[in-house]
Amino acid sequence: MLVVCSPNNPTGEVLDKETVVDVVRWARANGLHVVFDEVYANSVHAEGKEFCSVASALQGDLGDDVHVVWSFSKDFCLSGARVGILYSQNRDLMRSVDAFLSPLMSTSTPTQWALQAMIEDQPWLDDYFAANRRRLRHAYSRCTALLDDMAVPYVNAHAGLFVWADFRKWMSAESEECEMHLWRRFCDAKVFLTPASQCFGQRYGFFRICFAAVDVATCQVALNRIKQALVMARL
Ligand SMILES: Cc1ncc(COP(=O)(O)O)c(C=O)c1O
Repeated sequence: MLVVCSPNNPTGEVLDKETVVDVVRWARANGLHVVFDEVYANSVHAEGKEFCSVASALQGDLGDDVHVVWSFSKDFCLSGARVGILYSQNRDLMRSVDAFLSPLMSTSTPTQWALQAMIEDQPWLDDYFAANRRRLRHAYSRCTALLDDMAVPYVNAHAGLFVWADFRKWMSAESEECEMHLWRRFCDAKVFLTPASQCFGQRYGFFRICFAAVDVATCQVALNRIKQALVMARL
């Protein structure tokens, strides 16, 4: 099984329609099912960038081997609700989920009622997503401007709540040990970042900075602390 995360965590990159179709073609040629994790679908903030779901790329026909997951956690900041969806046209899979998983993981009726009322209110959704996009774009541009000031390179994100920043030049070697050393410096400065070693298979020295969990002023304080930690790392 292949799991594809678009928009991606931790890079914030969004796959275009051609790439989504290519991924599915490749997976099918190799006899693999593909799960598209689209949990950041409505958190695209880059100017002129649109999200393309695999469901629209394949014109609604997912076959038996393409599945989509999404949840309320990111786009609606409702991670505490613990509500997500699995969308699949594979009848056997859905029958198994109904029989075994649904009874164990069902969502309470009041929660279902409240979320249903929310997602049926199209004018409210339009306003909410527009505001979400605008605020994410503002927070992202403030955060990356501060990284630019500090000459910290990063991956250009189109979506998501984070920046994937490259601190390799503050490490004496690209190793897990050096990454952990720098991570401890950040922790000492009271900033908690996710290192690449926690994101499986990424290059040591990259750290994920979540800019959306706090206001812009707090983010600025955190980046100043990172700056201090980097000065110390150089000493
Ligand atoms: C790409 C991605 N998928 C899924 C999840 C899971 O979210 P939840 O379990 O809150 O629905 C996360 C959470 O960090 C995520 O980043």
